[in-house]
Amino acid sequence: MARKLRMLRASDLNGTLDMRDVLALIEQAFVERGLGRTEMPPKSYLHFPAHQGVLLIMPGNLPQMNEAAVKLINVHTRNPADYNLPTLIATIVLISPDTGEPVCIMDGTYVTGMRTGAVSGVATKLLARKDASVLGIVGAGFQGPFQLEAVRHVMAVEMVLVTDLIPERAKKLADMAAGFGLAARVCETVEEVVRGCDVLVTATPSDRPIVREEWVHDGMHINCVGTYAKGKQEIEATILKRAVVVVDDWEQASHAGEINVPVSRGQFDRSGVYAELPEIAAGLKPGRTDDRAITVFDTTGLAIQDVVTAWKAFEVAERKNLGSVIEPLYL
Ligand SMILES: NC(=O)c1ccc[n+]([C@@H]2O[C@H](COP(=O)([O-])OP(=O)(O)OC[C@H]3O[C@@H](n4cnc5c(N)ncnc54)[C@H](O)[C@@H]3O)[C@@H](O)[C@H]2O)c1
Repeated sequence: MARKLRMLRASDLNGTLDMRDVLALIEQAFVERGLGRTEMPPKSYLHFPAHQGVLLIMPGNLPQMNEAAVKLINVHTRNPADYNLPTLIATIVLISPDTGEPVCIMDGTYVTGMRTGAVSGVATKLLARKDASVLGIVGAGFQGPFQLEAVRHVMAVEMVLVTDLIPERAKKLADMAAGFGLAARVCETVEEVVRGCDVLVTATPSDRPIVREEWVHDGMHINCVGTYAKGKQEIEATILKRAVVVVDDWEQASHAGEINVPVSRGQFDRSGVYAELPEIAAGLKPGRTDDRAITVFDTTGLAIQDVVTAWKAFEVAERKNLGSVIEPLYL
């Protein structure tokens, strides 16, 4: 029987998911990928140079979980100034693996935030020192709260250090941490955050390194979140030489992740990558084995993360009858 199509706007979705559920789902998705049981063709791109825009098409299929979806996400840098619109607009179409029907079309902003936070959480769980207690966050924009929310569930956080070019944003994130009962401090410089933390999250759109090698210390773990486009970079390439480097996916990371610039300059290659995170999640390779090692996780965001997170949001929406439901488009 034909299934109706559920439409979920951003306002229907915000706050629907529990980060602990998403952490478990992302880890499960990475296990599936590590075991070679996912289908995830490389991201495709459509370019709109006249409008300074690009559209990414991200399909993913997890047969064991019976979930598939396609995410469309654009980056149109002139949107805020010219049209009063966000730079990024994400839309996710959930596909029934049984029939191929679209069962839900949802705004993808909230799901993207939750899954991006959760993957840092999973990487921190697998790669950070067990006694890590100080979390540093550089970049307190949209992703910041999701990063804090995820990492605090996998690490015994005692102190949060935050910095942002816009101090009010850093203050807001520090207030959120304090609301969780954590000690929190706004720092004036990136250096202060990096030197003082055990686990660092970088979540800025920087296109030049803002984390210097001399500030990085033994035993720390770094989640590089902000770089997911060619030509961008948040940490100095020399840090990669000192570190155990883990990527979410070599193809994606080498083209668009934190390692893309060093790879394009011949300063880094695949032999410098210890593992893809799915291999560690699936138990094929150990995570951290040395308390003194510096670990770096380069995440570009995988379609399978969107698939499992969006299906969970859809499940909640079905249960609570969120959004609106229309007749199938194809009838
Ligand atoms: N890896 C992934 O899967 C993934 C997913 C979503 C977003 N991203 C990327 O993460 C980055 C952050 O995304 P967002 O949505 O939070 O963006 P945002 O614009 O909402 O926030 C970025 C914040 O970084 C701050 N910032 C910029 N340069 C800085 C610097 N040198 N020092 C300190 N703070 C600085 C800005 O003031 C801003 O508050 C973007 O580059 C985005 O493309 C990655």
